[in-house]
This record gives sequence, structure tokens and C-alpha cells, in this order.
Amino acid sequence: MKILLLGHKGMLGSDLLLKLSREHEVIGMDKEEIDIVSVNECKKAIEETKPDIVINAAAYTNVDGCETAKQDCFAVNAEAVKNIAEACRDKKIRIIHFSTDYVFDGTAKQPYKEDDKCNPINVYGESKLAGERYLQSLSDNYLLIRTSWLYGVKGKNFVQTILEKAKAKSFIDDTMAKAKAKTEGPSTLSVVDDQIGSPTYTKDLAAAVDLLIDKNAQGIFHVTNSGSCSWHQFAVRILQESGFNNIEVLPIKSAELKRPAIRPAYSILSMQKFIRTTGKTTQPWQLALQDYLKNCKLQN
Ligand SMILES: NC(=O)c1ccc[n+]([C@@H]2O[C@H](COP(=O)([O-])OP(=O)(O)OC[C@H]3O[C@@H](n4cnc5c(N)ncnc54)[C@H](OP(=O)(O)O)[C@@H]3O)[C@@H](O)[C@H]2O)c1
Repeated sequence: MKILLLGHKGMLGSDLLLKLSREHEVIGMDKEEIDIVSVNECKKAIEETKPDIVINAAAYTNVDGCETAKQDCFAVNAEAVKNIAEACRDKKIRIIHFSTDYVFDGTAKQPYKEDDKCNPINVYGESKLAGERYLQSLSDNYLLIRTSWLYGVKGKNFVQTILEKAKAKSFIDDTMAKAKAKTEGPSTLSVVDDQIGSPTYTKDLAAAVDLLIDKNAQGIFHVTNSGSCSWHQFAVRILQESGFNNIEVLPIKSAELKRPAIRPAYSILSMQKFIRTTGKTTQPWQLALQDYLKNCKLQN
């Protein structure tokens, strides 16, 4: 199949490019080649490439930034989805698009299913939901994948941030760290423990997308790595796996961080539909993290 992949330089886009190029002809376009906010550029790209599938991995993903740059955020996350859906509509081109756990308000007590009520509590979530609505109303041949807490080799992400902070605070050499701890006390990092979700490695998500393409899946699907944790538990695991045994991770509450965007307290997505459809599941987030850290080492 011929696939037009928008946002192929992003965190998820780069893993999709690697995975899907093995079996398909993939044409990647990112900001340098296209502005998906432009109706004409979307039309032109689709007319010229004549794809069987358009995958949209491009988005405005700065969740806090969306609170102030509302117009730009809606242009990329909502209006651009309308442009892509309209450009594909008459040509019966299939669209694969990504959305987020942040379309939910986080008040659930059990994993969110695909048809549960959406009620975003920040601008990013509102813009992604508006994109979902455009896709659903303008296309009858779409796959909409909601995912959460992404990290990947080609992108700024939570794992990388924690490791950078840890490196700055600590000496990996144990003896030096012990000496430092004696004089200054142990190094600490503060991470929120009142948001629960499922960290997801973009390489595993790309493999799941490939499976859904093979099954010709249609409609909404939730895809994450298996299992769940708080950001605090995730940070503890990242440091353990990376040998930073001398850093203490202190649990704090989201309110203490005073970030511009509120995040849902609970955003675990149910994988049941994906499992029923593909007969497969994704690996636990702990194993995915190990894979990611190994792959990062190989790349350095
Ligand atoms: N990151 C997460 O934790 C997370 C969680 C849940 C769902 N998602 C969803 O998963 C998808 C992939 O996310 P990601 O984190 O991989 O995204 P990302 O790393 O931010 O990549 C997005 C790509 O889109 C490009 N882009 C932005 N605006 C564009 C425009 N107007 N025209 C063309 N390209 C444009 C970006 O270029 P620049 O970098 O130059 O701006 C970047 O290369 C998105 O739909 C996102 O909403 C992400």
C-alpha cells in the first residue's frame, strides 16, 4: 500500500516510518514539506501522492503551551484534521489519526472504553476532541487511535527529562554519590503521584498500528502499553533501570506544580477492543521501558 505519513519526524511519526516502511511505500511529510493547517497544501499533497492511506501523526503536543496558544493549538489539532478528512473524502482514502487520554476528565474508576463520555479538562484535550469530531463527521473510512503518556527515541519526553534531571543532580559513581550524600543529604526529584495512566513506547504503538492496518480495523481504538502507574512510580522505575540508585523520588501533588494545564487524575484506557480485534496485546510498560532504554543506548 501507499501511505502518506504526516508528522513523520515526530516521536510517534518516526517509529511509524520505521515500522511501516518494511511492508509499505511510505511518503513522509513534516513541517518542512507541508503545513497541515493549510487547506490547499493538504489537498495538493493528497492529490500528488495518491495514497491508499493518510496517517496523521502531526499535532500540537505542548499541553501547557495550548493553554495560551489556543488558536494555534486548535488550528493544528482540529482544523487541520478537517482539512485532511475533506481532502480524502471524495477519493475514499482511509485516514488513521491519533488522539489522547486527555479527552477524558479523569473521574472514572475503571479503564475508559472507546465509547465512554468525553469531557476534556484542558485546551489540548478540547482541541483533540474537536479533531476527533471532524474526523468522525467527515470520513466513513477512518481509524482513530487514542493513546497516552508517549515516549520514544526521537522526541522530548518524560523518561528523557527524568534522566537529564538525574544526571544533573547525581554522580553515577556510587562512592562519589555516597560522599556527597553525607555532606549534602541524598539528591531528590519531586514527581506527582496523583495522576494515574499508562506510559506507552511509540515503537510498541507503531507495531500496534501495523496490526490494526492488517486487520482493516475501523472506528475508535485505545492503544497503550499494558498496565498502569503514577508519574511518580514511573520516575522511580526509570531511575532504577538506569542505575541511579542514589536519587530519592519524592511524591508530590499536581496542585503543588502549578502547571498551566490541569491533567486528568485517572486516564487508563481499556485495551479490550484492541485485544478482541487483533488477538494480541501490548507488552507491560515496565518491559517497554527496558526496551526503550536499551534502544537509546544503541543509538548513542
Ligand atoms: N506525546 C504524548 O504523550 C501523546 C499522548 C497521547 C496522544 N498523543 C498524540 O499522538 C500523536 C503523536 O504525538 P507525538 O508526541 O509523537 O508528536 P510530536 O513528537 O510533537 O510530533 C508532531 C510532529 O508534527 C509536526 N507538526 C506540528 N504542526 C504541524 C503542521 N502545522 N504541519 C505539519 N507538521 C506539523 C511537528 O513538527 P515540530 O516539532 O517542528 O512542531 C512534529 O514533527 C499526536 O496526535 C498526539 O496528540 C501524544
